[in-house]
Amino acid sequence: MMSNKSVFWLRCEKKEFERRSALTPTTAKKLIDAGFEIFVEKDEQRIFDDSEFEAVGCKLVENNTWPSAPSDIPIIGLKELPVSSDPLPHTHIQFAHCFKRQGGWSEVLARFYKGKGALYDLEFLNDENGRRVAAFGFHAGFAGAAAGALALAARKQGKELGLLTPYANETAMVEDVKNALGGSGKGVKALVIGALGRCGRGAVDLFRKIGLDEDDIVKWDMAETAKGGPFSEILDVDIFVNCIYLSSEIPHFVTRDTVVAAGKDRRLRVVVDVSCDTTNPYNPIPIYNINTTFDKPTVAVDVGPELPTLDVISIDHLPTLLPREASEQFSSDLLPSLLTFPNRSSERVWTDAAKLFQEKLGEAVQAEGLA
Ligand SMILES: NC(=O)c1ccc[n+]([C@@H]2O[C@H](COP(=O)([O-])OP(=O)(O)OC[C@H]3O[C@@H](n4cnc5c(N)ncnc54)[C@H](O)[C@@H]3O)[C@@H](O)[C@H]2O)c1
Repeated sequence: MMSNKSVFWLRCEKKEFERRSALTPTTAKKLIDAGFEIFVEKDEQRIFDDSEFEAVGCKLVENNTWPSAPSDIPIIGLKELPVSSDPLPHTHIQFAHCFKRQGGWSEVLARFYKGKGALYDLEFLNDENGRRVAAFGFHAGFAGAAAGALALAARKQGKELGLLTPYANETAMVEDVKNALGGSGKGVKALVIGALGRCGRGAVDLFRKIGLDEDDIVKWDMAETAKGGPFSEILDVDIFVNCIYLSSEIPHFVTRDTVVAAGKDRRLRVVVDVSCDTTNPYNPIPIYNINTTFDKPTVAVDVGPELPTLDVISIDHLPTLLPREASEQFSSDLLPSLLTFPNRSSERVWTDAAKLFQEKLGEAVQAEGLA
């Protein structure tokens, strides 16, 4: 297999329930039209059929064979690789979730150090204004708010929210949520923090589409949290959706103590932590410590038997509930940068990402005692 500079190898995803893809048949075709060669690992998990990629000229390869691909072929994927200590000799483009000292961060980076590979983390590809070139935010907030409304509806029937499965499209999701709430979300009150961001706008959009009154969608961003938490306002809504981008230590938004102190009259029943800084030492919602999953979407906060329940949803791959639309949107936003990847040694978006990787690699080498 010959490689040249204009090649991408789309690897499979191994994270459970992940159906999205960093490249789609649409964007793969555009790359091929621009002269790229695209290898695509067969992947039954992916929302797109292998044949859709083949039809636009991609070369299909077997599932999970990227480790034996020539080391000069860049590997593109979406989420974390399965935990391992194997050295990584390739250049990877993906979300690695290890630059903010998340659990296991230094072990992941140590794999790149040992293999002399490189990581371009999709979370840190920024335009000249420092804004992400591609992000899943909108659909994450949209799906998170939907899951929150479904959890509230389940509790109203004395149940716990069960398995969540991807929806064919947005309309199907909205209809399902409205049905669960008895036809409309009218009367439900929600607070979205980070409402001006991508996730926040998605959450607000879902609440509007399921029929909440505009006054019942409380939208907070930096100005409203500047006074410092914890915030009693959070306890006075049915659903709180956290959508902030956490970049430094901030006062807690809500704590178990404030929840318990609110007593029996507490309105808050569901917290959706879209930001999901679960293992981040500065997590402003320290009332839970696990990421929930599509087959068990909620974790109950231990508030004792006397008080109303409080469920937390902390699923870190929410957009996969709308996999096709979310992938198409993300991949088309990423495409202009991917087209410049062969010039990554001089293109700013890539040189900035490489610099950040080197910095984080250095920290991991220290932390792991590899120097
Ligand atoms: N759970 C998931 O599946 C999922 C998917 C995508 C993104 N995310 C996460 O969601 C978070 C937000 O992503 P985004 O793309 O919407 O970011 P964004 O930058 O578009 O928006 C973040 C918003 O939060 C606001 N904000 C930051 N700090 C705040 C504070 N202390 N108080 C109030 N508002 C504050 C900002 O002003 C901004 O409007 C990120 O951490 C991202 O990793 C989660």
